[in-house]
Amino acid sequence: MSRLFVTGTGTGIGKTFVSAAIAHAATKAGQTVRAFKPVASGIADHDLRDSDPGVLLQAIGVTPSLEAVNAISPWRYTKPVAPYLAAVGEGREVPYGEVVDFSKEALRGPEDLILIEGIGGVMAPVDRLHSVLDWVSALSIPTILVAGTYVGTISHTLTALGVLRAAGVRVLAIVLNETQGSPVSAAEQGTAIGLFAGGVPIYVLPYVEGERSWMRVPCGALTDAILRKPACAAT
Ligand SMILES: Nc1ncnc2c1ncn2[C@@H]1O[C@H](COP(=O)(O)OP(=O)(O)OP(=O)(O)O)[C@@H](O)[C@H]1O
Ligand SMILES: [Mg+2]
Repeated sequence: MSRLFVTGTGTGIGKTFVSAAIAHAATKAGQTVRAFKPVASGIADHDLRDSDPGVLLQAIGVTPSLEAVNAISPWRYTKPVAPYLAAVGEGREVPYGEVVDFSKEALRGPEDLILIEGIGGVMAPVDRLHSVLDWVSALSIPTILVAGTYVGTISHTLTALGVLRAAGVRVLAIVLNETQGSPVSAAEQGTAIGLFAGGVPIYVLPYVEGERSWMRVPCGALTDAILRKPACAAT
């Protein structure tokens, strides 16, 4: 049984893409999978298909109805900003304790793989007192840290890795998700990060063109390592 929290160095870095790729590969390989996005901002109920929970549902073959989204993403806010700010903008507060309880309950499910996508970067504030770091620490499950390959990612990635480790969170892998147009190759960035990453495995994920391209992430090391059985064999 795998339980994973997918976090990142920041927003828009590829957490949903990586989560969907893993969830899809696992489903295709015959595993039972659930993927949650308990807190989401920048989301409107009239456009759920391409929202984070919508994508996570499609990745496991579920139609993203309002009911299905409610079940995996109960705290949704319209403004595309940090959840604390998005909630305050709506005169609300993210109920952090309830988010943690919901996540723990979700992780108790019987599925082979249960994955939770965080929100924003590691230090994004969930409420006025708690960040994503507190949330993942409270769950005691391993994380995947998603980062880009743009110039500047080395420090961003190692800073995020440092705070996760300092909090005692196990980082199962760093996924370097290729930033289009970067003047530095993903391989070079990976090598440099590896010098300081203390042995955490680093996987480079290429940019994959096209609609719902998380379905076509090349099968191989990333998914195999995370799923702990070859996903490629069944595809
Ligand atoms: N390797 C990739 N190949 C192709 N498209 C990608 C890849 N990685 C990310 N994308 C696309 O880039 C955009 C941002 O990625 P994504 O939504 O996964 O980021 P995120 O970290 O989940 O963002 P958020 O902070 O909003 O949750 C999406 O449109 C996604 O489909
Ligand atoms: Mg996302």
